[in-house]
Amino acid sequence: MIKLNYKNADALVIGEENGLNLEAEFNEYKDKIAYIIADLNKRKDKNGQWLQWMNLGYNEETLWYVKEYAAMVKDRFENILVLGIGGSALGGLAVTEALLKPYWNLLSEEQRNGLPRIFFLDNIDPDSINGLLDVLDLEKTLVNVITKSGSTAETMSQFMIVKDRLEKALGDNYRYNIVATTDKKTGVLRQIAEQEGYKTFVVPDDVGGRFSVFSAVGLLPFALVGLDVDEITNGIKDMDLALKNTDIHNNIAAQNALIHYLMDVKKGKNISVMMPYSSRLRYVSDWYAQLWAESLGKNKDKDGNEVHIGQTPVKALGATDQHSQIQLYNEGPNNKIINFIRVENFDTTLEIPSIFEYTGIGYLGGKTINRLINAEADATRVALADYGRPTVTISLEKVDGYNVAQLLYMLEVQTAIAGELYNIDTFNQPGVEQAKNYTYALMGRKGYEESAQILQSKMTAVV
Ligand code: PA5
Repeated sequence: MIKLNYKNADALVIGEENGLNLEAEFNEYKDKIAYIIADLNKRKDKNGQWLQWMNLGYNEETLWYVKEYAAMVKDRFENILVLGIGGSALGGLAVTEALLKPYWNLLSEEQRNGLPRIFFLDNIDPDSINGLLDVLDLEKTLVNVITKSGSTAETMSQFMIVKDRLEKALGDNYRYNIVATTDKKTGVLRQIAEQEGYKTFVVPDDVGGRFSVFSAVGLLPFALVGLDVDEITNGIKDMDLALKNTDIHNNIAAQNALIHYLMDVKKGKNISVMMPYSSRLRYVSDWYAQLWAESLGKNKDKDGNEVHIGQTPVKALGATDQHSQIQLYNEGPNNKIINFIRVENFDTTLEIPSIFEYTGIGYLGGKTINRLINAEADATRVALADYGRPTVTISLEKVDGYNVAQLLYMLEVQTAIAGELYNIDTFNQPGVEQAKNYTYALMGRKGYEESAQILQSKMTAVV
């Protein structure tokens, strides 16, 4: 199981001003946390609670369907192209980057054991879309378009471009190169898929985009590139079991949720940094940033009070960002809690050869670079503590499906518990609607004429 070390968030290590008296706080919040955990588990099966993500590890049916489809299309495609944005892309990106062999798309077919390359288009930059479509052999590309709502402008505009090119290249057979993941009944993509006869998978009800990585949204691309989806599911289930423990002393998601919450409300640490010391986990930070920001950044609490709460997530990568952000973390405003992710055992052990005897670098020879990266993580954590900066460290025994699934699921539960501590609705995102409406108005969508007029006057006023 993955582990959490919170020692360096404790006042005993970093001092009273910035640290928490964790044993006392755990005891103080013991009952509240026990209630939150029991309540989440009680509500998870009820409609409209948006907690169905807590059941995804047990969805044997989806697992069976994605494996069956992956087996059916095996050997037919050289590339998987995922179209999606936000929660429909970030989980897939995080997990495939973590679990596929590094530089997967550059490996030969033989080195990939005949499995396809995978590309994610999660933005609408015309140059990069066009650039990617120019290099992919569309005939050998399976396009997985993912959108729960079925109408997200970014995803659907990409899809229209890709579908048009596929049809031009393949004629009527283009539809066998498309698989859609969307709501089971509603949305434009569902309509199109049914009309055109695409293979489809379902984003289940009551699973929001940022909590959907373990639904078909993630599992299908994982299975298509040959990842062991059973191993992933076992990781989720074991972590779920561990996190059902209502005792905060034995529940790492509850511990980290409480630490983040108290650091924010009591110690003014309104920034949460995610810093894995593993390049393979770099997109876990992107995924976490969305999860934490969109879930907890709210202006009203559940009782209707104006609150404007939520920590700002920051993505960092160890050791790279030691040469970019750590100066600020050590000496700048003391307004952050930093999450280190530490990998105990890398797949590879890489020895640094003893080829130079110069004083400044000779000591490196004969050591492993594995030792160096973890020494840097430990050294940075201790240096931060010297400066009175709080950190927690999440340790993974290794980067595999079992551990990565545990990590992501643990962060999802942590987010849900933090939302309850803040007393906000973790699962909505009203703050992204206004800009979407303005975009629709700017793009001439029917029904948005009034917004277009308001927008026009506001834009003129700003200019
Ligand atoms: O977490 C969320 O709900 C969002 O980030 C969505 O995933 C994102 O807006 C994409 O939405 P959709 O899947 O409907 O295209």
